[in-house]
Amino acid sequence: MTPVTGTDTATATGRPTLVRTRAELQSARERLAGPVAVVMTMGALHEGHATLVREARTRAQSVIVTIFLNPLQFGAGEDLAKYPRTIDRDLELLGHEGVDLVFAPAPGAVYPDGDPGVLVSAGRLGAVLEGASRAGHFDGVLTVVAKLLHLTRPDLAYFGQKDAQQLLLIQRMARDLDFPTEVVAVPTVREPDGLAMSSRNTYLTDFDREVALTLVRSLEAGAAAAGEGASAVRRAARDVLVREPLCRVDYLALVHPKSLDDVPEWYSGDALLALAARVGSTRLIDNVPLVLGAVR
Ligand code: PAJ
Repeated sequence: MTPVTGTDTATATGRPTLVRTRAELQSARERLAGPVAVVMTMGALHEGHATLVREARTRAQSVIVTIFLNPLQFGAGEDLAKYPRTIDRDLELLGHEGVDLVFAPAPGAVYPDGDPGVLVSAGRLGAVLEGASRAGHFDGVLTVVAKLLHLTRPDLAYFGQKDAQQLLLIQRMARDLDFPTEVVAVPTVREPDGLAMSSRNTYLTDFDREVALTLVRSLEAGAAAAGEGASAVRRAARDVLVREPLCRVDYLALVHPKSLDDVPEWYSGDALLALAARVGSTRLIDNVPLVLGAVR
């Protein structure tokens, strides 16, 4: 596909305008009708991303999608080098979804001075769950999200519940640091068999993919026990996991959805059951929000 740059906001084929530089972004951004929404992605787009775009279109006049594989949020030994890059297909999908503008910068356009000297700190909420396994990950996420918010200046920004901790941190950043953008959450989009959609699912062999269903089955078992309280949820979810040794659990946690603290046994109310596991060489995460019943 030929990249479209410069002045036109939509091509005859319905492909969105693709801009690569800050200057191109600023001039295209000027011409967008408000309210403007942004959907930030790392590319390798799937139905989960498309759903974010469709949700954005329900409230926004114009939708910007950013495609940027942010090196700052990948640790040494993680999958930055092998992360799928499918820009032509991505642009086609975004064209079908009626996206107005795609910003797909090179790393040098986002980080012109190399690694930034100042980062947004995710603080305590960024050190638990995913943060405990991926040191510095959320500082890298928040830093790029802050930069992309400044560059795209949206009224609304859409993020998926699939990455519940990331969503919470972005909501907190917007609130705690007075970003003028409303952060909107979108529920997790799943394959028909329940597997949460993820760009990383393309790493899975057919065999691994079957094993990967253990994650959603564990969460479903936990959710089904929600009426019986926290201990029952933890037990039900763990029972599914221990039966599949090929699903190597990193963490299974039942936490308060805002503090991310483990909920005590007696707790009733909103909670988040979150899980990370390795299947083959692929690390997967999933979660389900639930309401815990009071234990009698
Ligand atoms: P990425 O993994 O590409 O995800 C982009 C957005 O799509 C995130 O808000 C994510 O939560 C959402 N998403 C992914 N899979 C989803 C699913 N199955 N259902 C609903 N939403 C889903 O998350 C990132 O990129 C990056 O960390 C980013 C925020 C772009 C910063 O680099």
